[in-house]
Amino acid sequence: MQVVHTGADWNKYWLESIKNDKSIGFVPTMGALHEGHMDLVRKAKAESEIVVVSIFVNPTQFNSLEDFNNYPSTIDEDLDKLKNEHVDFVFIPNADSIYIEKPKLSINFGDIETVLEGAFRPGHFNGVGIVVSKLFNIIKPHKAFFGQKDLQQTGIIRRLVKDLSMDVQLVIVPTRREEDGLAMSSRNVRLSPEEREHALILINSLAKAKQELLASKPWFEVQNQIKYDFEEMPSASLEYFELIHPESFASYPDFDASQKSSICVAAYLGKIRLIDNLPIIP
Ligand code: PAF
Repeated sequence: MQVVHTGADWNKYWLESIKNDKSIGFVPTMGALHEGHMDLVRKAKAESEIVVVSIFVNPTQFNSLEDFNNYPSTIDEDLDKLKNEHVDFVFIPNADSIYIEKPKLSINFGDIETVLEGAFRPGHFNGVGIVVSKLFNIIKPHKAFFGQKDLQQTGIIRRLVKDLSMDVQLVIVPTRREEDGLAMSSRNVRLSPEEREHALILINSLAKAKQELLASKPWFEVQNQIKYDFEEMPSASLEYFELIHPESFASYPDFDASQKSSICVAAYLGKIRLIDNLPIIP
């Protein structure tokens, strides 16, 4: 496994791979790798001849300095995990080489970024769009792998690839969960034991809401009950719990079994913000 730090270094290996007609699979990450990331890596290994994983905690997608400064970093463990999966290259740039100067460009994703994560984390998707564009331009992958846990992020990256005619195929990998159902996230390690236990309210609410919608309970009743459940749990604070179309991300006023739909949730457990989603009609 080779660790490369600059685009110029990677270019040498890229030229070699292209000369040998090898397909390149890319897994962008911010490190603190868990089994959810490893699922992306394994999928990339299965579908590509050369696998590149990037580790870069992108400052421009954080809308809180505290969140950025506290983002977990486990680089030695990350490298061991990637070596065990026989990853070919790990790209670890420093922030100065990615952001030689502060980007003047800003990306407006339209309606998608005014709802859910876009509404609660202003500027977040602009930061993701810029860094993913930069990483795609540097790595030049044939396929890129993203997790379904960040459902809205997959939507904005799909938009980016389509609107800018990027020649990269996106592969979305299902959410990996802990045995008790909590969606894996790098932020989970920052939960206290009590918050970790209470964090199950996210997946439990999604599962309960799905069951009730499929049993024909009206959405406003389902949503109100879930809001009440969150209010009853003092360590949890709900930001949103919405029934949406999984491509436009527009909220539905009620469930319609003939339409694609997912439920998305974001909530704080103490100071840690977690998100999750569950497809109802995929
Ligand atoms: O999903 C993430 O870890 C990040 O948003 C990404 C795609 C690596 C961009 O920084």
